[in-house]
Amino acid sequence: MELIETVGSIRSFSRAMRCKGHRIGLVPTMGALHDGHLALVEAAARYADVVVVSIFVNPTQFGPGEDFDRYPRPLDEDIALLRSAGAHAVFLPTDDEMYPPDDHDSGGVRLVVGSLADYLCGKYRPGHFDGVVQIVTKLLTAIEPDVAVFGLKDAQQFVIIEHLVGALGLGTAIVGVETIREPDGLAMSSRNRYLDPGLRVQAAALSRGIGAARERIAKGEQAREGLVTAMHQELSKADDLRVQYADIVDARSLQPVSDIVSGQRVLVAIAAYLGTTRLIDSAFVTAP
Ligand code: PAF
Repeated sequence: MELIETVGSIRSFSRAMRCKGHRIGLVPTMGALHDGHLALVEAAARYADVVVVSIFVNPTQFGPGEDFDRYPRPLDEDIALLRSAGAHAVFLPTDDEMYPPDDHDSGGVRLVVGSLADYLCGKYRPGHFDGVVQIVTKLLTAIEPDVAVFGLKDAQQFVIIEHLVGALGLGTAIVGVETIREPDGLAMSSRNRYLDPGLRVQAAALSRGIGAARERIAKGEQAREGLVTAMHQELSKADDLRVQYADIVDARSLQPVSDIVSGQRVLVAIAAYLGTTRLIDSAFVTAP
């Protein structure tokens, strides 16, 4: 497994692999890897011959007061995990490599996400998705992968990246992988390690909230209000949990729905705090 630190070198690596006729799969991550990430690596290996994993804690997607400084960076463990998962290369750029100081300081050219970022996480994390598309575009143009794989837990991010690739005409196929869960339903996340045992037990409420809406939609319930109330009822069972949002939006436009229409694909999503830890969960559901 190669460890590569510069944009020039990862581009050369990727182009050399393509010249040999290999398909390239990219798994973009911020490190602190868990089984959910390893499922992305496995999926990438199904679509491509050469799997590149990037590890970069992207400063531009964190807002003021968010956890950029304390975000876990267990680099040696991550590299060992990727080696045993069979990744072929790890791209580990520095901040200056991805954001050359000249460009960054001048605030020169930026990508901006439109109405896709108006609701759910975008509403509460202003600029977050601008930072995500900035870094994902840089990774996709540096590596030019045939396929890039993302976890569906970050559902709004996934939909925005699908739109990004379409809008910029990038030639990469975007693949989403189902959320990997702990036995009690908690979606795996690098941020779960912030939770103490008491909060950890309560964190499963998010997946129960998602499950409540999902089951009701499957049974034919279509009014947003009743579905959102059902989610809040589940969430309120966890004493220390503070809901940021529990909502239902159209799965493509990410705009709120009032009443779901039969056959409509929607995204059910929750964000909540347990202590200072912000967790999210979500599911795509097609109404019967
Ligand atoms: O999902 C993540 O870990 C990040 O948002 C990503 C896609 C690696 C961009 O920094």
